Amino acid sequence: VINYTQALRGQFFDITQVGASAQNLATNARHITDGLLFLNGGTIAALLPWDEGQRMLRNETDYLDYRDKLILPGFVDTHLHYPQTEMIGAYGEQLLEWLQTYTFPVESQYVSHDHAARMSAFFLSQLLSNGTTTALVFGTVHPQSVDALFSAAERVGMRMIAGKVMMDRNAPDYLTETPEQSYQQTRDLILRWHKRGRLNYALTPRFAPTSSPELLSAVQKLREEFPDTWVHTHLSENSDEVEWVKALWPEHASYLGVYHHYKLTGKRSVFAHGIHLQECEWDCLQHTDSSVAFCPTSNLFLGSGLFNLKQCMQKGVRMGIGTDVGAGTTFNMLQTLAEAYKVAQLQSYRLCASEAFYHATLGGAHALDLDTKIGNFQAGKEADFVVLDPAVTPLQKLRYANSRDIYEKLFVLMTLGDDRNIWQTWVDGKCVWQREMLEVAA
Ligand code: GUN
Ligand code: ZN
Repeated sequence: VINYTQALRGQFFDITQVGASAQNLATNARHITDGLLFLNGGTIAALLPWDEGQRMLRNETDYLDYRDKLILPGFVDTHLHYPQTEMIGAYGEQLLEWLQTYTFPVESQYVSHDHAARMSAFFLSQLLSNGTTTALVFGTVHPQSVDALFSAAERVGMRMIAGKVMMDRNAPDYLTETPEQSYQQTRDLILRWHKRGRLNYALTPRFAPTSSPELLSAVQKLREEFPDTWVHTHLSENSDEVEWVKALWPEHASYLGVYHHYKLTGKRSVFAHGIHLQECEWDCLQHTDSSVAFCPTSNLFLGSGLFNLKQCMQKGVRMGIGTDVGAGTTFNMLQTLAEAYKVAQLQSYRLCASEAFYHATLGGAHALDLDTKIGNFQAGKEADFVVLDPAVTPLQKLRYANSRDIYEKLFVLMTLGDDRNIWQTWVDGKCVWQREMLEVAA
């Protein structure tokens, strides 16, 4: 017998094991065309094929019927900025000018707790309506930005990692702080939020150019005091940025070397981008067990460059997908995977559907060191998943009907899909988002 509170019948796909190569991931793909997912409160009790599962039901109709849907583990977004939601699509600049012209002025508004609270609610509804159930999120330099976000996530019951930006130079006065302030405010936030329910804290120095040596020392001190916190920052996104880091930190051999010097590499350290890395930096990421966040829509939008997915897989570096909103242009993981595929195409690497969906789920969870808690339908994991309507538009219906197997269907879904395909999002065993019926002509 299975002890359960709810059961869902439908089509399921997940990757059962963390893996390092596309072949190995394909081997661990699990597709159940007609299955039963048993939930016990916020926990997954079992996923079984219908034939086996039906015998475990208390009575034969004791399930929600999603047989025309596809159920996947919730998407994991390993890098984005909630205060940049309102500036998506800022025209004409690459990273450094984009930050000065658009980003810093928008982030200044989060000095207001009310503004932060309103935008937190909007931000979470964007994540959920796109099927994203866990994210690693930048706030602003203001502690109240993080209080507002964590409060909103706690109300939904989402697993979320976030932190306040730490920065003390090369940004406007209204967004900079002293290393002492940064240390103290971050420490207070850790004590208030870290490991509270499903919430976790990430030490969030913006990037090396906005950090003095004293600031990074403060981050190091916090990591030593609170070794189970995360570290979240940017790395080697743009060529001018890489040159600037060389000029600001001449005593370090590489960009990653700066962070490594302050002992900020390691498990639960997540570096966004990593586009212009030297071989030794890839090796450092690998042997310190650090993670990178691949943010294809952002990298294309800001003209930053092409992330080397093949190299990342070959080196065995932990990697997850990030939307990087607001340099990224969508919250939607399907659209983000479509761009990841194109970035790989430009470098003659084939990103197959099982690998792509792995990166968006279990692989992202692994990059965040959360793969024992989320990322697939393994019994005992937290019940975070997304119910997809695999074909909603006329074009999707046409193309879906013409696809042979689950891999082709998933690939079509990531190529043509968007938020219209997200039917429901479940967090902690509860449906927290339901799409309205779409009026789409057949
Ligand atoms: N590097 C430093 N700050 C940022 C930011 O806000 N967005 C992106 N894409 N890169 C950064
Ligand atoms: Zn970013």
